[in-house]
Amino acid sequence: MMNKLFISILSVFLLSGISVFGQITEEKTCIDCHEDLVKLKFKHPTKNKCEDCHKSNKEKHPEEGVKGFDLTKKLPDLCYDCHESVGKNKVLHKPATDGNCLFCHDPHQSNSPKLLVSNENDLCLKCHDKPISYENIKIVNIKELLKENNYIHGAIDSGCTVCHSPHESDNTYRFKKHFPGGETYLHATKDSFALCFSCHDSKLFEDAFSKTATNFRIGNKNLHYLHVNREKSRNCNRCHNVHGSKNPFHINETVRFGNWDMPINYKKSENGGSCFPGCHVKRSYDRNATPLRDTISDYLTGYTNEKKYNSESEFNKRLSEFNKLKFTDIKFEFGSSNIIKGTDKNLINIVNFMKKYPDSKVEIQGYTDDLGEQSINMNLSEERAKKVKQLMVNMGIAYYRIYTIGYGKSNPIAPNDTEKNRAKNRRVEIKLVR
Ligand code: HEC
Ligand code: HEC
Ligand code: HEC
Ligand code: HEC
Ligand code: HEC
Ligand code: HEC
Ligand code: HEC
Ligand code: HEC
Repeated sequence: MMNKLFISILSVFLLSGISVFGQITEEKTCIDCHEDLVKLKFKHPTKNKCEDCHKSNKEKHPEEGVKGFDLTKKLPDLCYDCHESVGKNKVLHKPATDGNCLFCHDPHQSNSPKLLVSNENDLCLKCHDKPISYENIKIVNIKELLKENNYIHGAIDSGCTVCHSPHESDNTYRFKKHFPGGETYLHATKDSFALCFSCHDSKLFEDAFSKTATNFRIGNKNLHYLHVNREKSRNCNRCHNVHGSKNPFHINETVRFGNWDMPINYKKSENGGSCFPGCHVKRSYDRNATPLRDTISDYLTGYTNEKKYNSESEFNKRLSEFNKLKFTDIKFEFGSSNIIKGTDKNLINIVNFMKKYPDSKVEIQGYTDDLGEQSINMNLSEERAKKVKQLMVNMGIAYYRIYTIGYGKSNPIAPNDTEKNRAKNRRVEIKLVR
């Protein structure tokens, strides 16, 4: 094969009258003879082309059995010379940063813009097709996990490197964005899970009450918020396996409790689901359940993630100041979340109060009259509350300081007997909760 190629090259040389026995003639560039190395879609765009990496060792070239070139530097320094940022961070991926760049990259060309030698996930799974034990770290077999489980995380289709950097990063597990890998309990903020919220809506983390932020809720009480956005947050990985699992929503089969892998026994149901782990009684959630009324004391005892709240008496003092504010319920047009002109003019008093007490929080409660279906009224009342929330946000109050909740036709302040009375019930009330 080699010989044949050599002979055919020789004959090309003889036909074109170039001496085979001298140095390379000017006319023949490297690419003329090595066009196979530059035929794929993406070429390594180095400046001086071949000479950036290959330098002649003065031997005749080409000459069968004789090596005509050395690399200008040893690997991986050769690559580091131009790619200074690779390999300089804290958390390194040993196989990459040990210098084995060519395990994954072709130095000349590729069908992928990142010059990969094959499909990215295949590349990763070339090594992660077995458990890896490394110092005191034990890494699971990812290939098997993906093969054995029917619910695979949608992100994997876009490649392992949407989440992991192949070389290094400042985060554990070399995440591209922050994620508290491995940790179980933590003091979480939205940024703790930046990795997840680069694709998923962070409302599932932020909105204590909502019918749209998540499906993991009882009525409109957000169970993600309850589990994750509190002083003692559970990491997402307590419940989800981010690569995939045998359960819907990538719910884990087991959860680690001390040294024990406890079965979670997750079951999906039509409007929710249930779990039955060893650490608490069977729990279930139902999205159609009546929204739970969370009391003010729920908020005070840690429903919010800032716990260091003023004492109860301090709160009561603030509450009495709040209750003296000039404010009448905001009213709405029939069947809509359009505010009746002028009924919101005192909202500014509440906004100013919240500016005066920057750690205060309010709950906006939306209501409807008794006409129409309850399910429609529930949504409508929540929309009304959200409408007012938006106004307050526009006036400079942070989103997370305002909870919204819809109560439909409940708690009427007037009998629903005349249009005039019904108009009174189409309202929102604002309560101080913190
Ligand atoms: C006249 C044709 C021809 C030209 C011009 C040519 N090569 Fe080659 N080169 C070959 C052949 C034939 C081989 C041996 C077969 C193979 O490995 O593809 C080879 C092998 C090589 C090798 C591997 C073995 C070794 O000698 O180190 C390198 C590296 C190489 N060439 C680099 C270059 C560079 C860089 C240039 C331009 C400066 C160049 N070649 C120009 C024909 C050529
Ligand atoms: C970014 C650096 C870099 C550039 C630019 C580069 N090469 Fe290479 N080349 C390498 C490395 C690294 C190897 C592998 C050497 C080894 O394994 O020892 C290699 C190997 C080769 C080989 C051996 C056969 C093969 O396919 O692996 C040939 C031939 C070759 N290069 C030719 C060229 C030619 C011709 C050019 C210009 C079109 C070029 N190279 C540009 C880094 C480069
Ligand atoms: C002489 C300088 C030089 C050397 C040496 C070099 N590269 Fe590059 N490489 C570049 C340039 C320039 C680009 C274009 C993109 C950029 O500016 O980062 C590039 C692009 C790449 C890309 C695609 C990056 C992207 O963002 O699309 C990869 C992967 C890559 N190089 C890997 C390597 C590897 C592996 C080596 C060592 C075998 C190496 N490079 C050696 C200059 C170099
Ligand atoms: C385990 C496989 C693997 C190894 C080993 C590896 N890379 Fe990469 N590299 C990738 C993948 C996958 C990408 C593209 C994904 C991305 O951008 O995060 C990439 C991207 C790059 C890029 C584009 C810019 C960037 O940082 O994203 C450069 C440059 C690069 N690699 C250089 C190197 C160098 C130099 C080495 C050796 C020190 C190396 N790579 C080793 C898999 C690898
Ligand atoms: C050449 C073999 C090899 C390839 C290819 C490879 N890995 Fe690894 N990977 C390892 C080894 C060995 C370790 C353990 C040492 C370490 O953490 O650096 C590891 C560790 C990891 C870890 C866990 C690190 C930790 O802190 O526990 C992640 C995440 C990872 N690899 C992701 C990837 C991704 C994503 C790819 C594809 C871009 C990939 N690996 C390709 C061999 C490989
Ligand atoms: C959606 C983001 C995401 C994607 C995509 C992803 N991972 Fe991960 N990976 C994670 C997270 C999060 C962890 C940490 C898990 C934990 O804390 O329990 C992790 C952990 C790992 C580990 C360490 C496992 C251990 O037992 O310590 C390896 C190895 C790994 N991933 C490889 C891969 C490979 C290979 C792919 C592509 C097939 C991939 N990952 C795709 C998010 C992702
Ligand atoms: C690169 C984008 C991306 C990232 C990053 C990402 N995901 Fe996903 N995730 C998806 C896609 C795509 C789907 C599948 C489509 C869907 O159901 O929304 C999905 C689905 C899910 C599902 C199942 C939803 C269902 O209805 O079955 C869960 C649970 C999930 N992701 C959790 C996480 C967690 C936890 C993280 C952070 C470690 C994360 N995701 C990071 C893209 C991403
Ligand atoms: C206590 C267990 C638990 C924790 C902790 C948890 N989830 Fe979930 N998650 C669930 C359940 C159960 C579902 C399925 C809801 C359903 O029935 O559709 C779910 C669903 C999801 C979905 C699908 C969309 C939705 O909200 O319904 C995403 C995305 C998601 N979780 C991301 C996350 C992220 C990101 C974290 C960490 C910040 C996290 N989860 C923490 C139990 C949990």
